[in-house]
Amino acid sequence: MTKIRTAILTLSDRSYRGERDDLSGPVLVEIIESQGWELAESLILPDDLDIIRDTLILWADSDDIDLILTTGGTGFAPRDITPEATRYVLDKLAPGITEAMRQESLKITPHAMLSRAVAGIRGSVLIINLPGSPKAARENLEVVLPVLKHAVQLLQDSPDAEANH
Ligand code: MTE
Repeated sequence: MTKIRTAILTLSDRSYRGERDDLSGPVLVEIIESQGWELAESLILPDDLDIIRDTLILWADSDDIDLILTTGGTGFAPRDITPEATRYVLDKLAPGITEAMRQESLKITPHAMLSRAVAGIRGSVLIINLPGSPKAARENLEVVLPVLKHAVQLLQDSPDAEANH
C-alpha cells in the first residue's frame, strides 16, 4: 500500500451553516496531498453526536478508507461533542497518539490541555481527532504524521509492516 486513503471530517455548526469558512479542512487536505496520499472523502458536518457517529461508521466500514481525520469540536464549548461521537465508534483506543499530540502542543500553548481529542481503531481504520483551528489542526497532525504509514500498515496486517519497524 503506497497511498493512505484519507477522509477528512470538519465539525463546526457555523461552517456547516455557511457562516464561517472551513479553513482547517483545506489545511489537512494540503498536508495529505503533500504526502502523496489520497483524499477519499471530505465533509463539513454540524456538532451533532448522531450525525458524526453515523458518518464515522459509514466511512470506517466502507472498505475505501484507511485513515479518518476529524477537525473541531474537541474543546470545552457546550456543543463540542467530537470525542464522544468518536469513542462511540471505536473498537480500541490509541492513547499514544493523543498523548504525543498534547505533549508537543503544550510546548506551543497551554491551551493544548483544553483539547479532549481521542484516537483509536475501528476495524482496520485509524480515526484521529484534531482540534478545530487551522493552526492547531496542522500542528497536531504534524506531530503524528511520521507514524501514520506504519500504523496503517499494521492495521492491514501487511507483511511489509514488521520489516519497517
Ligand atoms: N494545539 C495546538 N498545537 N495549537 C493550538 O493552537 N489550540 C487549543 C487546543 N489545542 C491549540 C491546540 C485550543 S485553544 C483549544 S480550545 C483546543 O485545542 C480544542 O479546540 P477545538 O474545540 O477547536 O477542537
